[in-house]
Amino acid sequence: MRFANLAIAALTLAFALPAYAQQPTIIKFSHVVALDTPKGKAAEYFKKLAEERTKGRVKVEVYPNSQLFKDGEEMEALQLGSVHMLAPSLAKFGPLGVREFEVFDLPYIFDDYNELHKVTQGPVGAALFKKLESKGIVGLAYWDNGFKVMSANKSIRVPADYKGLKMRIQSSKVLGDEIKALGGIPQVMSFSEVYQSLQTGVVDGTENPPSNFYTQKMQEVQKYLALTDHGYLGYAVIANKKFWDGLPADIRTALEGAMKDATKFANDIAKKENDDALEAVRKTGKTQILTLTADEKAAMKKALIVVHKDNEGRVGKDTIADVYKETGFKP
Ligand code: LMR
Repeated sequence: MRFANLAIAALTLAFALPAYAQQPTIIKFSHVVALDTPKGKAAEYFKKLAEERTKGRVKVEVYPNSQLFKDGEEMEALQLGSVHMLAPSLAKFGPLGVREFEVFDLPYIFDDYNELHKVTQGPVGAALFKKLESKGIVGLAYWDNGFKVMSANKSIRVPADYKGLKMRIQSSKVLGDEIKALGGIPQVMSFSEVYQSLQTGVVDGTENPPSNFYTQKMQEVQKYLALTDHGYLGYAVIANKKFWDGLPADIRTALEGAMKDATKFANDIAKKENDDALEAVRKTGKTQILTLTADEKAAMKKALIVVHKDNEGRVGKDTIADVYKETGFKP
């Protein structure tokens, strides 16, 4: 009898436990870049807001620097539910079979962040997210990074300078065609392997926005950085759809609010983060920063613009046309 009373008391206590004493839902959020980048900072900010607003019912574990999964592993891990959230660059959706995302990789398709936002914050961005659903993935937000620079250990000002250079790229066929259009040799490689591959000469050069260049210490292994602004790199924040849809409605609403605010934060800091990173590279004195003349820029554009037409079949003529319409781009 006494035992039964005790059991009832224990049961009552368990039901009366305050929310904070219950087991929180863990959200594993993996990404491949450093903490001190637009994406790294935005992921931490999302964690902070998500945990505050769910009052401890959710715990977000952020794994930066490919600690948990690297490129080539993380999409499958998300689909299997081994990780719940990712923020891969838009250039990494081809292997998943959603090639339309490679529209973001087309050279010169965006002149600036304003043009980009017409796509990411408009119907084209929403339609692209819809395509993820059949893959068991939900698109939550687009986060900005920035416009890419090219780097190598020789001066690279015009297309002829790229002839024969092995250039590391992300897993995007459009980016492969971009390097080929310059006469270089594209090498797909995980982000986590880039520094070492540049150091050991496995590849000669690469492309990325300055924030990634600087935080990966590429200035130690690349003598030249060309301000080509030839393309954009940004992210889709995505989640395992089954996991996301299975969250209690109030939690999901709180997380959506946290994501909205973290997205504003990400997009507010991205440009300055990249400007500061470029300045920081300059200050190291290790990498010479090349500002292209108008003629050099024109030569780069002339060589690269063919990539648009060549990839109509892959990216989709309609998707490309939809982006042109939003941004006013004239090929
Ligand atoms: C890269 O692989 O170069 C980038 O996508 C890394 C990143 O996530 O910014």
